[in-house]
Amino acid sequence: MSQAFFKTWVENKKASGSYATPPRIDGKNDAIIMINDQPIINLSSNNYLGFANHAALKEKAMEAIQSHGVGAGAVRTIAGYNDLLETLEKTIAEFKQEEAAIVFQSGFACNAGVIQAIALEGDVIFSDELNHASIIDGVRLSRAKKFVYPHNDFQALEELLKLHRHHYRHALIISDGVFSMDGDIVNLPSLVKVAKAYDCMSYIDDAHGSGVLGPYGKGTVAHFNLSGQVDFTIGTLSKALGVVGGYVACSQVMKDYLIVNARPLLFSTALPAAVLAPLNEAFKLLKQSQSQVDTLWDNARYFQSLCIQHGLTLLPTQTPITPILIKDEAKAVRISKACLNDGVYISAIQFPTVPLNTARLRVMISATHTKEQLEKAANIIAYHVSTQ
Ligand SMILES: Cc1ncc(COP(=O)(O)O)c(C=O)c1O
Repeated sequence: MSQAFFKTWVENKKASGSYATPPRIDGKNDAIIMINDQPIINLSSNNYLGFANHAALKEKAMEAIQSHGVGAGAVRTIAGYNDLLETLEKTIAEFKQEEAAIVFQSGFACNAGVIQAIALEGDVIFSDELNHASIIDGVRLSRAKKFVYPHNDFQALEELLKLHRHHYRHALIISDGVFSMDGDIVNLPSLVKVAKAYDCMSYIDDAHGSGVLGPYGKGTVAHFNLSGQVDFTIGTLSKALGVVGGYVACSQVMKDYLIVNARPLLFSTALPAAVLAPLNEAFKLLKQSQSQVDTLWDNARYFQSLCIQHGLTLLPTQTPITPILIKDEAKAVRISKACLNDGVYISAIQFPTVPLNTARLRVMISATHTKEQLEKAANIIAYHVSTQ
């Protein structure tokens, strides 16, 4: 290993035209962002409901800094936990219709920590091929054997289970709830059925489902009316909830186990009050009204219909995540740059985030976009897809 090796790697990537550099954004991340003093339509944020800049959430963050200070002090198993964290975990458990919840520093830390803690030597994990990187890393950190099944294909999963399940002690089936780069939804009824038939625990990462799918944005499990049927439901507090953090909703027994075994809880400082207090407010808003979630879906349907009218190739999304397939990586980066020059920020997603030769422009719709902004953005994207 040497610096020269990595210098060559970076030079080659840049020479290929597929080295993408994100822009510097001045000020807040919202439907309109400022880049180089220009207002730009932002189609690259997971701020689905606009909570990242919600006045009530900002107010709660400022109050919490005054009452609780800016840092948590240490890991929760050493420094203890505060009232805000206690309220948040109770709120999440209730929202997800589960017995308990544990809050982590991020969704990534949650997947890495929980999977590693529950899948042990002699166990086996069955994981969807399109699962998020944090699941893949959690699986790598565990000592369990892994089998990857074709995307959302529960017949194929059943074949794997028939062949391998009986060789292992405990088994875990893991899937994204909403697939983050494609926008489609797990076939949860089939997953739950197969898990029961083959004595497996089930694990759904609902980072992009929470706040988006189901009544009041309760997520993928509620969307399928399967509350109580999934052993672990993961969520993030950084996307629809607008701040940062992750959580697992589960039984009280599993909470009692994880709280002393999940390594991010044992070895990484807890979230500060300025994060916890606005999250409590975000859940309060979600429970009060369905209107932000409805606006998000209305905007998504509008934008997706514009894309179809323009002849753009959409991957078969079922959610506001709108992936426009380009395939060629360098072309996707060129289109992304051209759109930015014309006032639309849309990131080019390429390998290793998605499989090779499936580069795409991933449009993230928010409840805070106006119809005019979406129409303008669709025109600009369609123009550059056809001319680049
Ligand atoms: C499916 C999925 N899981 C987990 C994460 C990680 O969440 P966080 O950003 O809170 O670390 C993401 C974020 O991109 C995601 O899309």
